[in-house]
Amino acid sequence: MYDGGKILFGILIFLAFVTFPFYNDIGKANVKPEPKIDTPEIQKLPQKKCVEPKAFMKAEHMKLLNEWRDSAVRDGNRVYVASDGKRYIISLQNTCMRCHSNKKEFCDKCHNYAEVNPYCWDCHIAPKEAKIAPKEAKNEY
Ligand code: HEC
Ligand code: HEC
Ligand code: HEC
Repeated sequence: MYDGGKILFGILIFLAFVTFPFYNDIGKANVKPEPKIDTPEIQKLPQKKCVEPKAFMKAEHMKLLNEWRDSAVRDGNRVYVASDGKRYIISLQNTCMRCHSNKKEFCDKCHNYAEVNPYCWDCHIAPKEAKIAPKEAKNEY
């Protein structure tokens, strides 16, 4: 004969697994990340613009970073010409993170939300959440 108790237990376990992704998201769903662009370097900009338009950066920054890495490391090219003709030095630390010196309030805000954890900072130096931007560094010329 069938063991009704065991079957019921099995069904409950099954339901717990199937519905887990839904209730595990409760509480997260509403807190959309709001990455902050309020840094000393960005305040100095006449126009609050990234290297490429915001929508592109939002969707493609990971690919852009890969292109930058390949360009610098494989091709030895360290100058990026943006779509608006502006030139930037290809550097994660000295260009991206010079403007976005608030990694915790910017990059990490989204990444924690999206549950991605780029391993870049194993090697690249993350900004020290500096309030004062280093004077000697240049990211545009
Ligand atoms: C010259 C300063 C500057 C540099 C250099 C810079 N950014 Fe930005 N970034 C900004 C500003 C300002 C914004 C906000 C743009 C807007 O609101 O239109 C922004 C927006 C973004 C966004 C979109 C944020 C959102 O809310 O959707 C991402 C992602 C981003 N930057 C990543 C990067 C990466 C990666 C690099 C290096 C490849 C980089 N930025 C280099 C100033 C900069
Ligand atoms: C507007 C939200 C947002 C901001 C701001 C943002 N990211 Fe991201 N980033 C994402 C999302 C979402 C992913 C995952 C995309 C995917 O998996 O396709 C991602 C993925 C990445 C990846 C690839 C990681 C991997 O394991 O595939 C890198 C590298 C990265 N981001 C770097 C940065 C850096 C550096 C900054 C800050 C200068 C930054 N991001 C700011 C949303 C953001
Ligand atoms: C194992 C160590 C390591 C890891 C992890 C790593 N990098 Fe790099 N990266 C390097 C080295 C070494 C260079 C070459 C530095 C140079 O020639 O100036 C480099 C160069 C780069 C460059 C071009 C030059 C520069 O100074 O920025 C970019 C952009 C870059 N990496 C992005 C990334 C991103 C994005 C990630 C994470 C997804 C990442 N790297 C993870 C070691 C690493």
